[in-house]
Parts: sequence; C-alpha cells; structure tokens
Amino acid sequence: MNLRDYLTPGEWTRFREFSVDKETPFLMIDLKKVKKNYIDFKRNFEQADMYYAVKASPSVEVLSVLDEQGSCFDIASVYELDRLLGLGVDPDRISYGNTIKKIKEISYAYSKGVRLFATDSEADLENLIKYAPGSKIYIRLLVEGAMSADWPLARKFGCSMDEVKRLISLAKAQGVIIYGVSFHVGSQQRNILVWQYALMKVWDIFEWAMDNEDVELEMINMGGGFPSDYFHLTEDMDVYAEHINRFLDEYFGDKMPKIIIEPGRSLAGNTGVLVTEIVLISQKNQFEPFQWVYQDAGMFNGLIETMGEAIKYPIYTEKKGEKGEYILAGPTCDSMDILYQDFKYEFPLSLEIGDRLYWLSTGAYTSSYCSVEFNGFPPMKTYFID
Ligand SMILES: Cc1ncc(COP(=O)(O)O)c(C=O)c1O
Repeated sequence: MNLRDYLTPGEWTRFREFSVDKETPFLMIDLKKVKKNYIDFKRNFEQADMYYAVKASPSVEVLSVLDEQGSCFDIASVYELDRLLGLGVDPDRISYGNTIKKIKEISYAYSKGVRLFATDSEADLENLIKYAPGSKIYIRLLVEGAMSADWPLARKFGCSMDEVKRLISLAKAQGVIIYGVSFHVGSQQRNILVWQYALMKVWDIFEWAMDNEDVELEMINMGGGFPSDYFHLTEDMDVYAEHINRFLDEYFGDKMPKIIIEPGRSLAGNTGVLVTEIVLISQKNQFEPFQWVYQDAGMFNGLIETMGEAIKYPIYTEKKGEKGEYILAGPTCDSMDILYQDFKYEFPLSLEIGDRLYWLSTGAYTSSYCSVEFNGFPPMKTYFID
C-alpha cells in the first residue's frame, strides 16, 4: 500500500498532526476534501443535479459544506430530513429516496414540503398517491448486474422492468403521471458497463411508457455506486463520468431527460482517516503462520463494511521493515468481530502492541454505522478538520 496513492503529502501531514494527542479510536474528516469532491463531481456530471446521499456521512459539518455549495440531498428517513431542515435546507432540494416508509413518514415529509419520492412497490405507490398528492414520484428499477458491486444493494431494493411498467400504468389509471425512473448499480461498483446495462433498460421503459401509456417520463435518477479508492485502486472518477455521459448520449441523445445523481461513498470516502490502536498481537498456536492483530475499532464501532471482507480499506502503519501476513480483528467479545481473515494484510513484523493503524478512505459508512454500546464500547468519535 502506497500512502501517496490516497493522500497528498500535505493532506497526510494535516491528518497526522491533528491526530497526535487524540485518544483512539476516532475518525477525522477533512471538510476541504468534501468541498473539492463536490466540485469535481459537478464538473464531471455537468448536466446532472447532485443529491448527496446523506447516509454516507450524515454530520451537520459535512451537510453544511454541501449546502453552501448548493447541493441537493437524498434522504433515507424523516430523521435525516429533520437534520437538513434544521440547517435551513429548502425541501425543494430534498429527495426521499427510501422506498420503505410508513404512511406517517410520507405525511410528515409531505407536510414539510418534500415533493420528490422514490417507490418500488404498489403499496408504497398507493400511499404516495394518497398522502403526498401532486408529488413527483419515480420508480426504482432493480439492476441485476448490480450484484457485482463490492457492497450490493440489489437484493433489497428496486423492482423488475415489468413491475416498473405495471406501476406506471397503475398510476396513469388513477390520473397520476410518474415522473421518472431511478436505479442504483450497487455501492462501490467498479464495473462501468453496469451503468450501460441499467441505462439501456431505462431507455426501454421510457420508450414503452410513451408508446403504450402516452406517458412522457422526465427524469432519470442514476443513484450512487461510484467507487472510492480502497485497497484496490479504481479508475479516476473522470473515466467513469466520461463513459456514463457517453452512454446517456447514446441512449437519449437530444431527448435527454433531467438527470439526477446521488453519490454517497465516492463523495465522502476519501475525506476520512480512522485511527486505531493495537490492543493485542497474538498467535493461536506456535505453528500457525499468521499473527492476529486485535485493535480498538472493529465491526461494531465503525468498520462494519468489512463484513464478508466486502470493503477492503487501505491500512497504513508507520512501522517499516520486513513484512508478514496478519489477521485483523476488533476489540469486542463477538467472534463476528473479525475484519479480515481470508484476505491477509501485510504489515512489518516489527508491529507492536500500542502502535497506531491509519485506516484510509474511511469517510463513508463508518461513523454512521457505529453501535451505541455494544460490549460497553461507545460509538467512535469524529473530528472535523477545516
Ligand atoms: C437511494 C440511494 N441513493 C444513493 C445511495 C448512495 O450510494 P453510494 O454510497 O454507493 O454512492 C444509496 C446507498 O445506499 C441509496 O440507497
């Protein structure tokens, strides 16, 4: 792992100096990088409206930076909605992207002025028609290829192309014109062609709606899924954007609908460094070739995306020298709290109890995933660097 692949020397110095006197485990978020990522996204997807997926890094500090930049927001709950409204964000700039919601949550969001909602089922659609009248409703399409993402979302969300069409007809029969179609290619999706596949299906739905229901769909929400640089580096965002914009042109050309994107991980991921301390290094028996490193953050306080070894973070130590392979685990008494066992990280053999590990690219889906008091450990602290 090469530190320079993830942070400039200046960024690393800032993080390192800030971290010295802080008690581990903790997360540092670089707010300048949040702003830079937003600006880069806008440049790459000029024609799209950006709805930042709040769930990825939901602090008031991060949201405020994005609010100042003029970002819109994708929310998963009324709690995220309240946080945004508390910051003075106009409900016009909010999309309720979660397809699983209670009637009282729909009514609450509607009463606060939210008018853009996702759905993927008949029951939720009926609730939206009834409790959020006049809203712009879009239907989330299930993208099968999305299972190739490092953190797939396709098993739970979205409906088949046939079901999208049926819901369009069902709404039309009640005098409601569906606004558009959304999809999510799966989080940390490194395969650019999955966007092409998704857009081809969306194009088919647009054509079908016009030909069969005389419905002109107006919007495509391409969701998130854009990858961050983890242990395995990905192509630059410019490369993803160039191809995705080309796919859009190929399918929609001069009949381009309104485009929305909802980046979460790719906007927040590289803004964070999580610092841990090694609590114990041990071997299960004298003949086992690998040593175990137990550190003070694990599956339940920040690193749950290591589940199934799905997300492999780049981990940096300042120790140098000959390397060996290690198994990494967290501090709790739960044997689920093993972070990497199949995939062996290599660290210098000089690694000792008390050393710090720097988990890079941990700005997304870390602090917000912490348990409150599992085994008595408090949620991880987050610091913000301006
Ligand atoms: C509706 C919706 N939009 C956007 C996102 C953000 O995805 P990502 O973090 O992969 O960019 C998610 C993630 O779960 C989502 O559910």
